[in-house]
Amino acid sequence: MTTNDGPSGRVALITGAASGIGFAALDALAAAGWRVAAIDRNEATLDKLRQRAAGSAALHVAACDVCDEAAVTAVVSDVVKRFGRIDGVVNSAGIGADIPALDTPVDLFRRILDVNVIGSFIVARAVARVIKEGGNGGAIVNMASISGLRGSKGRVAYGASKGAVVTMTQVLANDLAEFGIRVNAIAPGPIETPMVAKLHSKEDRELYMRYMPMARYGTPAEIASAVVFLLDGSVSGFITGEILAVDGGYRGAGIISGRK
Ligand SMILES: NC(=O)c1ccc[n+]([C@@H]2O[C@H](COP(=O)([O-])OP(=O)(O)OC[C@H]3O[C@@H](n4cnc5c(N)ncnc54)[C@H](O)[C@@H]3O)[C@@H](O)[C@H]2O)c1
Repeated sequence: MTTNDGPSGRVALITGAASGIGFAALDALAAAGWRVAAIDRNEATLDKLRQRAAGSAALHVAACDVCDEAAVTAVVSDVVKRFGRIDGVVNSAGIGADIPALDTPVDLFRRILDVNVIGSFIVARAVARVIKEGGNGGAIVNMASISGLRGSKGRVAYGASKGAVVTMTQVLANDLAEFGIRVNAIAPGPIETPMVAKLHSKEDRELYMRYMPMARYGTPAEIASAVVFLLDGSVSGFITGEILAVDGGYRGAGIISGRK
């Protein structure tokens, strides 16, 4: 068994592929020679991808809620039928909220955990079973967040979910290593996506500028290139259980000079 093959002809399944980071990961993986199965929660989110898939033998598109275990099992089986294998997963489907802890409804907290943690688990487990069966190894990349590493205001549910993604990544890396499956997470800083356009107020943006050495928001493509690196065993074959911050220096920063 080897995890050191290059990407040519390999197959990645991406969740949350219709928007933001997932969409950028699709572009970057396709450019690197991967065939891609793109999943998002419903047909309404998938128009753009359906058009693109119509002209491509290397793109499979499916509507699927990652929280629906039976639907995920069915989609994974369709992908194996279509492409014959799966080598990697990008768990980018996620939801967030910026809401004071005392105002956070329990239902909202549960929904965020359900999508971000349980949904990522359902997909990772379904694909890991396929990879184990195939015997060629593979890789999983989960989307954590700097909000899962630090206690940012308003993130009691979102931050807890991403903290859980961090630990889940480390446990999966441990449990799946014997099958040649590497499991890593990316902890993005603020990235310009539709999610952030909805969640970040002008004040949030000013606060981030103050605490980030690079003093700018990242782009989805900057996360996507880290995804390609972590999925490709020929360049990251000895990395597993790692949480890679792609955050303009936010996680590591102490006092920053010259900022108000
Ligand atoms: N944008 C950021 O600044 C940032 C920072 C840290 C972490 N993240 C994480 O990166 C991931 C992608 O975020 P984004 O900014 O691209 O968000 P986005 O809202 O632009 O895209 C998320 C996609 O996930 C899909 N999705 C949501 N729930 C789903 C479900 N139950 N089943 C299937 N698909 C579902 C949505 O339809 C959407 O297309 C998320 O996990 C997010 O928490 C984002």
